Amino acid sequence: MTLLLGIETSCDDTAAAVVDDSFHIHSSVIESSIAQHQAFGGVVPELAGRAHLRTLGPVVERALISAGLDPLSPAIDGVAVTSGPGLVGSLLVGLSGAKAYALAWGVPFVGVNHLEGHLFAPLLEQPDLSWPVLTLLVSGGHSAFVLHESPGVHRVLGETIDDAAGEAYDKVARWLGLGYPGGPIIDELAQSGDDSKLRLPVSMTGPGYDVSFSGLKTAVVRATQKSPDTKLADVAASFQNAVAEQLLRKLRGALDDYDVAGVALAGGVAANSKLRAGVRDLAKECGLQCHLPSLVNCTDNAAMIAAAGIYRLAHDGPSPMDLGADPNWALGALT
Ligand code: KG4
Ligand code: ZN
Repeated sequence: MTLLLGIETSCDDTAAAVVDDSFHIHSSVIESSIAQHQAFGGVVPELAGRAHLRTLGPVVERALISAGLDPLSPAIDGVAVTSGPGLVGSLLVGLSGAKAYALAWGVPFVGVNHLEGHLFAPLLEQPDLSWPVLTLLVSGGHSAFVLHESPGVHRVLGETIDDAAGEAYDKVARWLGLGYPGGPIIDELAQSGDDSKLRLPVSMTGPGYDVSFSGLKTAVVRATQKSPDTKLADVAASFQNAVAEQLLRKLRGALDDYDVAGVALAGGVAANSKLRAGVRDLAKECGLQCHLPSLVNCTDNAAMIAAAGIYRLAHDGPSPMDLGADPNWALGALT
């Protein structure tokens, strides 16, 4: 059995996990610095980097101990770490820590693409799933339709041409004065709203798999300026409906065009109730396996980084010790 320590510090979560080569999670620890950013309405990069520096050591120690390992000399076979994309100051903390652990313990280290990590989340809960899988990856920084042929072999079919889905949730929540992060707040509010109260456009209805959320955000601003008395719950429900409608229409199109065995949701927006229900219905209608990882594995965590690291280490070998952080590392650049 190969055991990997995974480390994730690309944004505001400091996370460490121990995962084996059957994708079984031995431990997974996450410490978020979100409370420090809330007053600013978004993640403040310098605060995030400083929080990682304080938290990384204790989080790694807790992950090793709860996996039953000696934290000073753990019986692990390698260290996997997110080396991009993300906030550069945050990435550098995790990367430096991972190199130090690997050197101290005499094990290989491997840099992992954060987005590829998200693609591995379904495997953590269903290691024997059938391939290929069409994954809708939606987070605060990215929105993409990915054809995942087999573990680590994937192709981006389409992505957002402007804002990511989570970013749109966060911006609309900020406009409505609802707080940060906006996704969970709008999702909750939408439960008691009427989604027919605001007429909002569904963008990118033509061919292809690219999506766009910037026009929708502007439409919410205009509509609420024009009808300031609209109930917040109705605005939330109408916006949530327009986001889900666009993503689900494209997903349906991709499922018509590509022969896959399953459909998956990944990334923080995979927590969205409307999207989860829509993907579940679509999978049922198309007779496909449906992979909706639990919320803790959908949002940023280190178990998914360790899982992708297991594949990358076996496929590409260890990363060089002079590996740098790549804040803009695109998923499509991986082979
Ligand atoms: O994957 P993630 O934890 O971090 C990034 O890599 O971005 O995703 C965070 C994003 C935030 O934009 C947040 O508002 C959104 O996921 N989010 C949601 C929900 N829960 C979190 N968006 C819509 N509905 C939700 N229930
Ligand atoms: Zn993420």
